[in-house]
Amino acid sequence: MSTFTIDTSTSRATPSPVPGKRMTVPAIRARKKDGRTEQPIVMLTAYTMRMAQLLDPHCEVLLVGDSLGQVIYGLPSTVPVTLEMMCAHGAAVVRGSWHSLVAVDMPFGSYEGSPEQAFASASRVMKETGCAAVKLEGGEAMAETIAFLTRRGIPVIGHVGLTPQAVNVLGGYGARGKSEKEAQKILSDAKAVADAGAFLIVVEGVMETIATEVTRTVAAPVIGIGASAECDGQVLVTEDMLGLFERTPRFVKRYDDLASRIGHAAAAYAEEVRSRAFPTEEQTYRPKS
Ligand code: KIV
Repeated sequence: MSTFTIDTSTSRATPSPVPGKRMTVPAIRARKKDGRTEQPIVMLTAYTMRMAQLLDPHCEVLLVGDSLGQVIYGLPSTVPVTLEMMCAHGAAVVRGSWHSLVAVDMPFGSYEGSPEQAFASASRVMKETGCAAVKLEGGEAMAETIAFLTRRGIPVIGHVGLTPQAVNVLGGYGARGKSEKEAQKILSDAKAVADAGAFLIVVEGVMETIATEVTRTVAAPVIGIGASAECDGQVLVTEDMLGLFERTPRFVKRYDDLASRIGHAAAAYAEEVRSRAFPTEEQTYRPKS
């Protein structure tokens, strides 16, 4: 039995209110017509069933990003993230959503060796999670692999510019494309990935001028993160956007301050436990009189 079957009798997961209405790869791809996207594509990361349920009505794409390594597991980078982690969280996000297209990141080391290795890893991710697409980092070097996967029924999202899995080569997470040479490389990477068949391209942490040039140049929709409002859509790490972390990249906008709200709730709970104010009659079971 696949891991993404919903057991409606025992699970908190909501069954699909509108079966068969999930966004599809062709529908997302078709949002960009004649080089323009009328309405930008909304994409957020999700790693858990409940977060997927909350975000799903507002997004076209939910990305199970390998950023979960840092956000969920407290790892120093995305490099140690495993296929097992991606499969477990991918299946949870599929269970918690019914409208958005769910894409799962291929973790470092699971696809770079050869197109065949990438196919084995990506097909496992799709079988175990029920996701509709995978994302992988890299430009020209990954073009052959993207074409190989796409021709074999695996829709691929490309990811160019700042590629966090390459942190050890790049030496950090600074913006890319500051020199003309680097800018040209990002543009040729995006073109290569698009020509290879990627149906979406994430452009991360680049000079705005490059993001707009990439968006104008390639036929596939371009999703920006630390890029430009001119992109065909935007993505952020949800926990960053919700204000769960004190330190975030410059390109993050906080739409809430959940860290302090959670702190206040936990402090109120702790105070009531210590003073025996919780639980009250309302939260306790008593014999019926
Ligand atoms: O891993 C991730 O969450 C990502 C997005 C930030 C694009 O790759």
